[in-house]
Amino acid sequence: MRIDILTLFPDMFNLFDESIIGRGKEKGLYTINAVNIRDYSKDKHRKVDDYPYGGGNGLVMTVQPIADAIGELRKVNDGPVIFLGPKGKTFDQSKASELSKKENLIFLCGHYEGIDERLYELIDEEISLGDFILTGGEMAAIPIIDSILRLRDGVLGTDSSSVEESFSENLLEYPQYTRPEEYEGKSVPEILLSGHHENIRQWRRYMMLKTTMEKRPDLYSRHELSKDDRKILKKFSEIE
Ligand SMILES: C[S@@+](CC[C@H](N)C(=O)[O-])C[C@H]1O[C@@H](n2cnc3c(N)ncnc32)[C@H](O)[C@@H]1O
Repeated sequence: MRIDILTLFPDMFNLFDESIIGRGKEKGLYTINAVNIRDYSKDKHRKVDDYPYGGGNGLVMTVQPIADAIGELRKVNDGPVIFLGPKGKTFDQSKASELSKKENLIFLCGHYEGIDERLYELIDEEISLGDFILTGGEMAAIPIIDSILRLRDGVLGTDSSSVEESFSENLLEYPQYTRPEEYEGKSVPEILLSGHHENIRQWRRYMMLKTTMEKRPDLYSRHELSKDDRKILKKFSEIE
C-alpha cells in the first residue's frame, strides 16, 4: 500500500516510524510519504495562503500549490484524494476497513481557515474526525491512517487481533484481564480460569452484547442479533 500525505508539516508524520506502524513500514508492508505543499508553490516566498475574498478572519490555502502537488502525485498514485475536513462524513471503523483494502491513497491536510473551494474539484471525498475543529488536517490524518494501516495483513501480531475487537459487527469488545489472578481483593471472573473454551466464548459474547447495550445503545441498535446471540443472552440473563 502507498499513502501520500499533502501537508505543510511533513515532520509531524515521523511518528509513523515508531511502534507497530513503524515495524510494518520497516517490513515493507506500506510506504508513507509526506509531501510538503510549500515545495510546489510558484510564489517567490513559497507562499501557500492568502486573505479570503469578501473579507473575514484568517487565511485560506491557495489552489496552485495543492493542485500542482496532486498533479505530480497522480503520476505515481491513482488512489482517491481524501481531504480531512469538518464538513465530511465522520470517520468510523467500517470506513477504516474500506480504505484498508485500497492500494493507493492520497490525504490532503488543510490548515488556517481551510482550502479554496475550487480545490474540491480535485477531491474525491472529505472525511471528518468528528464534530469539533482541529488546528490542522494532520491531527485527523494521523489517527485515521493508523486505524487503516493496522488492518493490513501482517501489521498486527495475529490475524484475529483486529477481528474480535470493538466495532466489528457493531459491538464493543469484551473485558480483558491478565495476571495477577487477584489484585487488592478484586478477582478475575472464574469462568476465564475454567479452561472451558465454549463457556468462555459464550461469556465473552454475552459481555460484548451487554457492554454495547449499556455503553453504546446507538451502536447496539445497528447490531443484528444471531440465533447464537439470542441463546447466549437468554442463558446469561437467567444466571445473573
Ligand atoms: C482551523 S480548521 C478550519 C476550519 C474551518 N474554518 C471551518 O470552520 O470549517 C483547519 C483545518 O483543520 C482540518 N480540520 C479541522 N477540523 C477537522 C475535523 N473535525 N476533521 C478533519 N479535519 C479537520 C481541516 O483540514 C481544516 O481545513
